Amino acid sequence: MGGGVACFSNGRFKFGFLVVFWLWGLVSLTCAARLSVSRQKLEVQKHLNRLNKPAVKSIESSDGDIIDCVPISHQPAFDHPFLKDHQIQMRPSYHPEGLFDENKASEKPKERANPINQLWHQHGACPEDTIPIRRTKEDDVVRASSAKRYGKKKHITAPQPRSGDSSNLFNESKKKQRTISEPRSGDPDLINQSGHQHAIAYVQGDKYYGAKATINVWEPKIQQPNEFSLSQLWILGGSFGQDLNSIEAGWQVSPDLYGDNNTRLFTYWTSDAYQATGCYNLLCSGFIQINSDIAMGASISPVSGYRNSQYDISILVWKDPKEGHWWMQFGNDYVLGYWPSFLFSYLADSASMIEWGGEVVNSEPDGQHTSTQMGSGRFPEEGFGKASYFRNIQVVDGSNNLKAPKDLGTFTEQSNCYDVQTGSNGDWGHYFYYGGPGRNPNCP
Ligand SMILES: *[C@@H]1O[C@H](CO)[C@@H](O)[C@H](O)[C@H]1NC(C)=O
Ligand SMILES: *[C@@H]1O[C@H](CO)[C@@H](O)[C@H](O)[C@H]1NC(C)=O
Ligand SMILES: *[C@@H]1O[C@H](CO)[C@@H](O)[C@H](O)[C@H]1NC(C)=O
Repeated sequence: MGGGVACFSNGRFKFGFLVVFWLWGLVSLTCAARLSVSRQKLEVQKHLNRLNKPAVKSIESSDGDIIDCVPISHQPAFDHPFLKDHQIQMRPSYHPEGLFDENKASEKPKERANPINQLWHQHGACPEDTIPIRRTKEDDVVRASSAKRYGKKKHITAPQPRSGDSSNLFNESKKKQRTISEPRSGDPDLINQSGHQHAIAYVQGDKYYGAKATINVWEPKIQQPNEFSLSQLWILGGSFGQDLNSIEAGWQVSPDLYGDNNTRLFTYWTSDAYQATGCYNLLCSGFIQINSDIAMGASISPVSGYRNSQYDISILVWKDPKEGHWWMQFGNDYVLGYWPSFLFSYLADSASMIEWGGEVVNSEPDGQHTSTQMGSGRFPEEGFGKASYFRNIQVVDGSNNLKAPKDLGTFTEQSNCYDVQTGSNGDWGHYFYYGGPGRNPNCP
């Protein structure tokens, strides 16, 4: 009996102690949570201060974007330690010699697409000697897994076509990663890159000094915010290992990156297979912009409609034979700027592969294939006015000439979900239709 009382009081003592301990724990947990929230806020704020440079003028676009006109010499590129004393080059030394006269191409009225602009142009223009930069908002950074990862790709996303060429196969470490994310993978030649799916055309086996394409622009439906859909060209150097070099440009719909479903012009670069270096647009230092009309990451408008008006954009990326920088041009009139050669290893010399096409993320919502669309969401068979296309695809050779691609290959992981079909004619040169709806009876 006495033992029972003793036990009780002992228990009460313990209980009281526990309550105090629990309260103390609660207080310290709350403090820690608050501290970590404020630390996170501070980190986001610091990141925003780094990204958003003081503007001489700001333009509000109807899509909610704010475009800051930032003095050209204060752009993010110059935060790079190697660019502190860089002399901006205001124009390329050389421009590749053309194969197609763009003004003569597409004379068939039926297969004619219209020129395109950026949405914010309706509300103003940036003065000379400034560049337009899409302002990063707090929400943009908060949507990323961390401020550090904001504006960076999460995986190797350059598609690696099936090939017997072992120099072109993933490294052992990458192979492991692949098996983890794709346990159902059957064919070792087919690579599902963390649910990224592609429908592309490509060339390899030569030295390339640039690429060009005219891409028609759509607004594909994205099933889930963590998925995206894009159409772009890839300029690749090195093998698909840890040191893959890539320069990329095109259009994309990415709710995670931009917070909406608008179609936006984008660029990307990396010199270490999407690990530590590189980013989208001007979200890190690297690309040097000289153009005051076009904002990277800003919405393009209008977009093509099914059985309706078609709109396309031209993108040219080439290596200036004199300084060695990789330049980018948008349309016929806008030279946007350049990636200095020193950012890269392999691409400091030349590219070993060029790819053109679409990519989506299939996160397999509800265990089914995503219904996120690629391109227009239609299969290539449907053709002009319905399917999405790349036309007049060309490469730049060692003599700085634009040439038709030789031995154009195609690649898609699951042609029942997204497909690609090439062709050529006098009007469109080498072209392909690509894309698809994702989930459908043949792609469950
Ligand atoms: C790639 O993934 C899809 C579904 O996401 C699957 O059906 C297909 O079999 C995979 N292919 C390989 C080779 O793993
Ligand atoms: C594989 O990756 C390692 C670094 O992890 C790199 O040193 C090596 O060159 C890569 N091999 C190939 C074939 O890419
Ligand atoms: C984007 O589109 C999806 C459906 O495709 C929709 O559920 C979502 O609300 C849209 N997001 C925005 C920000 O409009």
